[in-house]
Amino acid sequence: MTDVADLLDAGERLGAEELRALQLERLRASLRHAYEHVPFYRESFDRAGVRPEDCRTLADLARFPFTTKADLRANYPYGMFAVPRERIRRLHASSGTTGRPTVVGYTDRDLSLWADLVARSIRAAGGRPGDVVHVAYGYGLFTGGLGAHYGAERLGCTVVPASGGMTARQVRLILDLEPSVIMVTPSYMLTLLDEFERQGVDPRSTSLRVGVFGAEPWTEPMRREIEERCAIDAVDIYGLSEVIGPGVAQECAETKDGLHVWEDHFYPEIVDPVTGEVLPEGERGELVFTSLTKEAMPIVRYRTRDLTRLLPGTARVFRRMERITGRSDDMVILRGVNLFPTQIEEIVLRTPGVAPHFQLRLTREGRLDALTVRAEARPDAPAEVREAAARAIVAAVKDGIGVSVDVEIVEPESLERSVGKIRRIVDLRPRDDG
Ligand code: DLL
Repeated sequence: MTDVADLLDAGERLGAEELRALQLERLRASLRHAYEHVPFYRESFDRAGVRPEDCRTLADLARFPFTTKADLRANYPYGMFAVPRERIRRLHASSGTTGRPTVVGYTDRDLSLWADLVARSIRAAGGRPGDVVHVAYGYGLFTGGLGAHYGAERLGCTVVPASGGMTARQVRLILDLEPSVIMVTPSYMLTLLDEFERQGVDPRSTSLRVGVFGAEPWTEPMRREIEERCAIDAVDIYGLSEVIGPGVAQECAETKDGLHVWEDHFYPEIVDPVTGEVLPEGERGELVFTSLTKEAMPIVRYRTRDLTRLLPGTARVFRRMERITGRSDDMVILRGVNLFPTQIEEIVLRTPGVAPHFQLRLTREGRLDALTVRAEARPDAPAEVREAAARAIVAAVKDGIGVSVDVEIVEPESLERSVGKIRRIVDLRPRDDG
């Protein structure tokens, strides 16, 4: 019987003081690398009046300027790279729903580091060498599929590169190839579970034992829903293309208490989203990352727009981040009240008679914005249960969030299903441009 402790890699075995010393050494080298090789950083550091050597303690990082998505767009496609293009072995790009996409690049060494960190993540999730891993994150420019793929290979697993979509075939593959681990967005996992049931297969009877879910916000009630429906351990994986891809932070199966940030390679800060001031550990704000070891595209104080807080480590020496409440971009401001789709998810998932599928429709009535929660009825829910569910959701949103919304309980199977990252908000408000 191997103990989890026996499986840890060298980074995970560091002591707290060793970790801080290593971070400082790496941080100083990474700031120097960025300053010397990326004109954007040279200009932004010069403008802020700081030099890499001014970083003498980890707290000194706060003196350095932020990097935003707009900076990456302005330097599209290759302007953020710190190595000649010939040394870039792979490119990925973010979906870029608005404006130009952003491109990220990796050297051979970056790709190897990324595989190591995803391998570490899968292991923390409960995967082991020899497992069959079904990867249903999308393959392509999105970092999810290939990131998960090479990490699972690095751990010594057998990888099924299913990618997203063709849901009926995914179910067939899972039944035939008997994976023990699945890596997929939580919303697409729900689509897969529905498909199992549609085919008359009890998802609890499959070979799956661990789910590594991320790329979009999800909640504790969603974890419970998935774990109960298919008898697996469901854990959270976090990452973003600009920092590396999946494998920046991972929840450990043994504690399921938030995600340990792989701090030996990515240094996290929480800042006030409005003032940019660094907040003390435990306070909620915007997550900011600085890469410590990346070659092709070092990133300094990147504003993720993801909202969370940092907490001390438990299962690992590294600090944890609480599961992401949402992105500042996805926050709806309704008559002065801030609302995140995850808050609605928690309410919908605890309401009897409704399925875990919902959508938020934003409209404008006169000068006021209005929100309609559209949630699907469970197939077996009679009319009275559906009506009671609508009333319960209205009341829970009013009591818990403090705002009035409309609720429509729609027919089973009527809302669009996710095959990757789900978009919860459908914004039907007229555009303010004329
Ligand atoms: O979504 C990387 C990834 C792939 C992570 C597979 C996990 C699994 P991007 O497409 O660049 O990269 O999107 C990054 O997705 O800033 C968050 O807003 C959101 N996100 C990622 N993981 C989580 C998570 C990938 N576990 C953006 N919980 C991030 C909540 C997440 N949001």
